[in-house]
Amino acid sequence: MYNHPYRPQFHFSPKEKWMNDPNGLVYYDGEYHLFYQYHPESTVWGPMHWGHAVSPDLIHWEELPVALYPDELGMIFSGCAVVDRDNTSGLKEGEEDVLVAFYTQHEENNEKQSLAYSHDRGRTWIKYDQNPVIANPGMKDFRDPKVFWSQENAKWIMCLAAGDEIQFYESSNLINWEYLSSFGNDFGAHGGVWECPDLFQLKVDGTDTKKWVLIVSINPGGPNGGSATQYFVGEFDGKAFHPDEGPAHIRWADGGKDFYAAVSWSNTEVERKIWIGWMSNWQYANEVPTDPWRSAMSLPRELGLKMTESGWCLTQKVVKEFDNIKEEKLNAYENVVVKDEQPFVFPSKDELFELKLKPKNIDPDTKEWGIVLRKGEKTETCVTYSRVNRQWSVDRRRSGAIDFSEHFPSLDAAGATRQHTDHHVQLILDACSLELFAGDGELMMTELLFPFDEDFTMQVYSVGGEVAFEEVKLTRLKSIWNPKA
Ligand code: FRU
Repeated sequence: MYNHPYRPQFHFSPKEKWMNDPNGLVYYDGEYHLFYQYHPESTVWGPMHWGHAVSPDLIHWEELPVALYPDELGMIFSGCAVVDRDNTSGLKEGEEDVLVAFYTQHEENNEKQSLAYSHDRGRTWIKYDQNPVIANPGMKDFRDPKVFWSQENAKWIMCLAAGDEIQFYESSNLINWEYLSSFGNDFGAHGGVWECPDLFQLKVDGTDTKKWVLIVSINPGGPNGGSATQYFVGEFDGKAFHPDEGPAHIRWADGGKDFYAAVSWSNTEVERKIWIGWMSNWQYANEVPTDPWRSAMSLPRELGLKMTESGWCLTQKVVKEFDNIKEEKLNAYENVVVKDEQPFVFPSKDELFELKLKPKNIDPDTKEWGIVLRKGEKTETCVTYSRVNRQWSVDRRRSGAIDFSEHFPSLDAAGATRQHTDHHVQLILDACSLELFAGDGELMMTELLFPFDEDFTMQVYSVGGEVAFEEVKLTRLKSIWNPKA
């Protein structure tokens, strides 16, 4: 079933057909729900539904029937879900807490927000009979509601994307919403429409202080072209968002090309904020060479916040449950030293693995060091840390199948917040993706790769000077779909 070429083995992808944004992320009663933009009729985008999957551990997923179908108010665009524990909506019936979902209903030039609720742990949904709950105010782009309970204000807060701004609303019953304020004019990147916002609090690393983080996806206008996810750090006073940094600051959550529309789970443990993104880019999402499905989600990542030399930094680490799919036996290579013309070549050809590298001594003359992944006759992907530019980059211009779109073959670079990112890096490779976590989760790059079937090697290398590694560790990863006997 999940044996097709390029089929992700530990990232969620639908059995078949088209998927985009994660939607309705909510944890309830032992299950993480992942709804998603879904087109059950085709492998290209079309009339949107909400597909549905659940997981006990954020890693192993079970696909369930389609949760929401388009209706006379329009397609079912992106949105969220919350647990209404105190039944503020009055929609609860029976024993289970009522789950309430918000989504945009899309018709050309008429986007509005609707509500549906579930009494049976998200298995079936009843659309509210007086939808929409927020009508279109006369704007073309008005979508992607994300709701959370604000303890301080004893109110529900909703943020949504309106043109290239974010609007905030409040409600005491999830049904009647009042406009509060807008944010975005002149702040951050504005090369495209703003989409899929999220707003939450994170504890600042090493302190007891909490800050608010506003997530805003943008398409186009990302740093490497096409779509990308930016964020702002500041305060939310219950009515409006006030950023700490000036209008010119632009912060990207991920420096790669393929991490979009990322939002967080609601109702997870206090102090644990987890999000997931759609692992593609609108520039070529409809063309990637996969069949009978299109698109996968990123790995779920736990978020943190740090103050660094260059200001606020949203940190991301793959969730600890990821350890569930690590093979016990790992290859740890001792005393690895590389220099010009003398790379360290791995004997193995593994599709699914995690590679951890930690340099201990870097000759000051070293210009760059890195890893060449899946090096075959026609294929290679170079992951490089440039000490000169203080940048990580991924070069996928020779990574395999690249010519399905002129936008795909790319050399993408992301600035490291500090030299510290020299210290260690984690690469996670699935059948068609690479996720790079550098430093303590301070820099992420997510990239799709479609390598040809070749006899690969892998090489750790350096240019200009010698690099000695404290750790070179390769761990094989198990498929979540086809567990080996
Ligand atoms: C983001 C997005 C959302 C919209 C959905 C439609 O990728 O454009 O703004 O709700 O996709 O599928």
